Amino acid sequence: MQVPDEGPRPVVSSAFDKIVGLLDYPMFVVTTRAGGKQSGCLVGFASQISITPQRFLVGLSKNNRTYRTALSAEYLAVHLLPSRRGDIAKLFGESTGDDIDKFAHCTWHRGPHELPILEDAAAWFVGRIIERIDMGDHVAFLLDPETGFAPEELDDAITYSDVRGLEPGHQT
Ligand SMILES: Cc1cc2nc3c(=O)[nH]c(=O)nc-3n(C[C@H](O)[C@H](O)[C@H](O)COP(=O)(O)O)c2cc1C
Repeated sequence: MQVPDEGPRPVVSSAFDKIVGLLDYPMFVVTTRAGGKQSGCLVGFASQISITPQRFLVGLSKNNRTYRTALSAEYLAVHLLPSRRGDIAKLFGESTGDDIDKFAHCTWHRGPHELPILEDAAAWFVGRIIERIDMGDHVAFLLDPETGFAPEELDDAITYSDVRGLEPGHQT
């Protein structure tokens, strides 16, 4: 059966909603820096997208300050949080850099390419932005992972079910 190209698609939409509603994907904090300004937000739309070459895709909402900074940035830093750091997820997911300086409320250091790297992350990597693809209300940033840090044992990450109660700081 062919799915119509236009108009409402309630059956498809309800199946899609049910499937994505069940997913419990890892959450990341993505930070970036451009023109002396730095931003960061909580991101759930993110995934490895190729093995060879290694590629990672990050979806940033066009409403977010992080997106606006990332438009002129060369790199993104992708942080994995331990499940007990809901406070950091809340800081980066519920507040916007348009209103507060998130980096004044957490510990971080300047890492590769001057990017802000969060001290509370369990692990992180920095990727060079090699493409920006308009997806609708989000833009996909395709990353070529360059460098990063992970401890020998990395077995715990915050996921969507840990943060589903949070209210995005910017409308998504
Ligand atoms: C559970 C959850 C998932 C989110 N996923 C994304 C996402 O994938 N991409 C995105 O750009 N924003 C996402 N957000 C929204 C931003 O983290 C949020 O609006 C943040 O306040 C934006 O900050 P900024 O304006 O400083 O960039 C998510 C928020 C929550 C609570």
